[in-house]
Amino acid sequence: MTRTTDPRNTENPTEYMGLVGSHPSMQRVFELIRKVGKSQSAVLITGESGTGKELVARALHDLSVRKSRNFVPVHCGAIPEDLLESELFGHVKGAFTGALAARTGRFQLASGGTIFLDEIGEMSPRFQVKLLRVLEDGSFEPVGATSTLHTDVRVVAATHRDLRSMAKEGGFREDLLYRLDVVEIHLPALRERREDVPRIAEHFLAKLRETRGMPRFDLAPETRQALMAYDWPGNVRELRNVLERAAVLAETPGVILPADLPAPIAAGAGTPAPLRAVGGADASPWDFGPEGTDFYKEMEAFERRMIGRALQLAGGSKREAARLLQVNRTTLLEKLKRRGWELRGGSLEPVEPPAGKPDGWKELRRGPASYQPGQAAREREPGVAVAGS
Ligand SMILES: Nc1ncnc2c1ncn2[C@@H]1O[C@H](COP(=O)(O)OP(=O)(O)OP(=O)(O)O)[C@@H](O)[C@H]1O
Ligand SMILES: [Mg+2]
Repeated sequence: MTRTTDPRNTENPTEYMGLVGSHPSMQRVFELIRKVGKSQSAVLITGESGTGKELVARALHDLSVRKSRNFVPVHCGAIPEDLLESELFGHVKGAFTGALAARTGRFQLASGGTIFLDEIGEMSPRFQVKLLRVLEDGSFEPVGATSTLHTDVRVVAATHRDLRSMAKEGGFREDLLYRLDVVEIHLPALRERREDVPRIAEHFLAKLRETRGMPRFDLAPETRQALMAYDWPGNVRELRNVLERAAVLAETPGVILPADLPAPIAAGAGTPAPLRAVGGADASPWDFGPEGTDFYKEMEAFERRMIGRALQLAGGSKREAARLLQVNRTTLLEKLKRRGWELRGGSLEPVEPPAGKPDGWKELRRGPASYQPGQAAREREPGVAVAGS
């Protein structure tokens, strides 16, 4: 894997400042981070939950001349409104009941560095006014103080909301939006960059090895397929959690199988991602675009998934798997033989010809293809079935 921390080093870095991704949309994000990181401009980071907004905010700080000073995150949505003022601006001793000592606010802690206003869309309009003032001229008063303090911060804000629509509807101050949104960095949802899923997954497995001393795990081909087919409503954070769980629970040493994934994700094994992607998150696996779909290829993938699951549940016993599938044992054996599938490490895999066998080995072994019209499609899926060619 190409690893670099500077996108200028290679044409397509796969990792930049801790962010993994080679999809064009992520390449644009890397380029933007590189450009605005060094500037002092305010940046608004948008994107669904778990897409890496905080990681981008930290990258911007680490690239700036402010990197030796504090990076101070404030989760605007998590702090109750009546505490937010003292949290951000500090308070003097005795400012309110319980204020036994003076407190330094986060705007002051961040002076010379970066303040990261996370979930800025959750801030009340009343508080937005107070924020606007400190952003305009750096001045603020701690709660209960009579004197004004000054701070020199770079502001990076993040939200999963559409602040422009909120501004139109009056839920977010337009003047504040202009202050924050000098440059916008938008992080695409993970389902919009499915090609990156396996690489990010491997990145997390490598991290588990390095930081927790976990053994090495690879992704089985079916696992990759399942991970790419899933829609990831929780984005990269969800992917990280799913892999950690899988690595802890994995039954087979060294490999993550679809069975190690939560059922809704494992269900995607054998389903080509683009098919499921059409129509967005609610699309059924049977939806497809104007270009149509390959019936035979889909049917074969579906069979492989169903038979694989039955064999898995049957602990590898073909007799028991046939019973579960309510077919004759000979029907199942015939099917496996024709397709050239064998249960390996928990999933059905195409059998490779043994070394030294002639090229026509599979054809000889498998007999005529059961789905003649799907030939073209099967040729595109190397190794799965070449019978009849
Ligand atoms: N492209 C990526 N490559 C590697 N790790 C990533 C990437 N994007 C996110 N992560 C990791 O995923 C997790 C979630 O990212 P982060 O906390 O930055 O998301 P967020 O957008 O701030 O989410 P939220 O809106 O819920 O706060 C973190 O552990 C982060 O390190
Ligand atoms: Mg966050």
